[in-house]
Amino acid sequence: MSLQESIRIVPKGEIAFVEFDLIGEKVNKLSSPVMARFKEVIEELGRSNYKAVVLLSRKPKIFIAGADIEEIKKISTREGFLEVLKPAHDILNAFEDLPIPTIAAINGACVGGGCELVMAADYRIIADNKETKIGLPETKLGIIPGFGGCVRMPRIVGLQNSLDIILAGKTIDGKKAVKMGLVDECVPTQMLEQKALEYAGQILAGKKGKRRKVFEPKGAMNVVLDSFAGRPLVYSQARKTVLGLTKGHYPAQLKAIDVIRKTYGMTNRDKALKIEAEGFAEVASTDVSKNLIDLFFMMEAVKKQTGISSDVKPRDVKSMGVLGAGTMGGGIAQVAADKGVHVRLKDISTDGIGIGLKQAHDIWAKELKRRKITPHDFQAKMALITGGLDYAGFKTLDVVVEAIVEDMNVKKKVLAETAEHCDPNVILATNTSSLSVTEMATALKKPENFVGMHFFNPVNKMPLVEVIRGPKTSDEAVTTIFELSKKMGKTPVVVKDGPGFLVNRLLMPYMIEAMFMLEEGMNIETVDRYYTHTFGMPMGPYRLMDEVGLDVCVKVVKIFKKALGERIEVPKLVEVLTNSKRLGRKNKFGFYKYDESGKDVGVDSSIYAEFGLKHPSNPLTEKEVIERGIFVMINEAALAMVEEKIVERPQDVDMAMIMGTGFPPFRGGLMKYADSLGSRYVVQELELYASRLGIRFRPSTPIANMAKTDRKFYGEGASKRLASDAEATI
Ligand code: NAI
Repeated sequence: MSLQESIRIVPKGEIAFVEFDLIGEKVNKLSSPVMARFKEVIEELGRSNYKAVVLLSRKPKIFIAGADIEEIKKISTREGFLEVLKPAHDILNAFEDLPIPTIAAINGACVGGGCELVMAADYRIIADNKETKIGLPETKLGIIPGFGGCVRMPRIVGLQNSLDIILAGKTIDGKKAVKMGLVDECVPTQMLEQKALEYAGQILAGKKGKRRKVFEPKGAMNVVLDSFAGRPLVYSQARKTVLGLTKGHYPAQLKAIDVIRKTYGMTNRDKALKIEAEGFAEVASTDVSKNLIDLFFMMEAVKKQTGISSDVKPRDVKSMGVLGAGTMGGGIAQVAADKGVHVRLKDISTDGIGIGLKQAHDIWAKELKRRKITPHDFQAKMALITGGLDYAGFKTLDVVVEAIVEDMNVKKKVLAETAEHCDPNVILATNTSSLSVTEMATALKKPENFVGMHFFNPVNKMPLVEVIRGPKTSDEAVTTIFELSKKMGKTPVVVKDGPGFLVNRLLMPYMIEAMFMLEEGMNIETVDRYYTHTFGMPMGPYRLMDEVGLDVCVKVVKIFKKALGERIEVPKLVEVLTNSKRLGRKNKFGFYKYDESGKDVGVDSSIYAEFGLKHPSNPLTEKEVIERGIFVMINEAALAMVEEKIVERPQDVDMAMIMGTGFPPFRGGLMKYADSLGSRYVVQELELYASRLGIRFRPSTPIANMAKTDRKFYGEGASKRLASDAEATI
């Protein structure tokens, strides 16, 4: 890469265009060499006779995507971070202090370090298009803005706006950025350069000059909240909200509040930036940040993956059939149509079709109300879904996804019938959550074109899709469904067919363990709270069972018992639940009580007597509760991955668990968490529990072998490999 060419000064009379276009790179990013080159450019501008500077990107969809995360990842010490941040601050300060006015003309993503750079310019103009976003997503990676973002953002947009952006790691579009005061104007893309020249013209005419934009609150309430007297309230409210959302597991947000509290309004820029740098160094060296960055790399890597190891190409999917317009079918149709895929819904009842269409309608109606889409978008999306009771239109569909009742015989019959009405080469997929894809394929003449496409409920919110490969499934079918999942905005993980695939297989022992603990006298709220507040799961096991449906849970426990044998010990509670009317949230009657609107209103304590359980006395420690539930999952994951090759790599397990169950991202996933404890410790604890509680804890052969030499799931250098797989900026 020629750095000279990557950031160039292009003279336009008395105006200097500074053009960013990193040669050989897909995106503009602020690595150390790029910053060093930018420094040279600033020095040259300082020595020149130019009267104004316009900053531009020559990449079509990227302005500056941020600092180089790979560099951040390589640093582990506080001193190391401070060493990198100091020169970066000096460079952005030098840019801010140039004697000539500077204008950033922003087209494309301008996030993280990119946003921090333009905040050092005098004026900011932004293009009005879908790709152009501006903001500071750093806290999502467990770090805080470190190139002056915590200092300059509040100065430009005020306290409340900046906390809103920084704590949520938000990016916003041009129009919102104008409203907030982050940029001066938002203009149609083709007018961006012309507008920048207009600003420069006003500078040449002496009508505009250097400035350091300072926020001026509007409205009495904002004036008070931004004042010295009002600020403590804003900070304490922000802390409360962050702690409520994160249970204290994500230190970056709290650190950002702390840095802003110490630096807002400070006139000594160097001192303020030093405080920011110290804060950055502190959070960037935590395991939380390392785990979140690894997760980011994993997600970026998926974008480049195809789901197969051969170079077979996926088919382009423009149209999709969905069989069954219920909870899942309606959701799948909505998510596909949302991304421009034509959907034909088929059900056996018109009511069913109505339910499916209403589901899609309601989701987009909400987006319309929140102005996320326009009325025109709304109409166009709705028009992409049609429904019927017959196979009209199926002949030309690229893919059909089945989401009908969970019954092997019915599914086999309906799939065989569907194949007769489609193109002979159509790809058929099933959304089954527990049935064998291999067996279902026997109903089809072309099993190679059959694959599992397992979505999670609710489809529009849950990011994971398990792409299930049967023994006869072709690479073409796998990669087509893998790419289709990505097109639908999902994160696909390829999983070999087997009981419960991956996520449900791991969750089952966790839910079973929760039932055992209830029988041993644990209190429902206490166990759920240990998992949510202490461990960081989005919900505890009893709430999860209520969401899944207690009838479904007992059905699946029985299927697992049959498939996995002695490893699955069935608690007595399963039989009690089988005969109970409690189905969970769906009939507002489960471990929790629900009001008329379906909102849960606390644990139903009559359950203990009803199920013949002793009054809860909480005999188990928090450590034991958490370990028992999590370690059985680790044990099962080792077996599924290492021995049965259900998935290939530990990052597949981690992605699937984070995306499919909300396993705490700050822990990096189930396998990363196991590695943080060490296989030796996990096995030692499993053996203790096995001797006391039963065979279900017996360490599986793979993890027992790992423990002998304290080996990790992620071998040495794994996280470096992850990084080199992905494009990463902040
Ligand atoms: P549902 O009961 O809400 O919907 C099933 C729909 O299929 C109904 O509208 C029914 O009229 C229709 N249907 C039944 N037989 C049909 C046929 N022969 N042709 C066309 N339509 C037919 O069920 P849900 O929850 O949407 O589940 C569907 C599938 O998705 C099942 O295989 C289930 O295991 C799986 N799944 C369910 C999840 C959940 O949380 N509900 C999660 C992931 C997978």
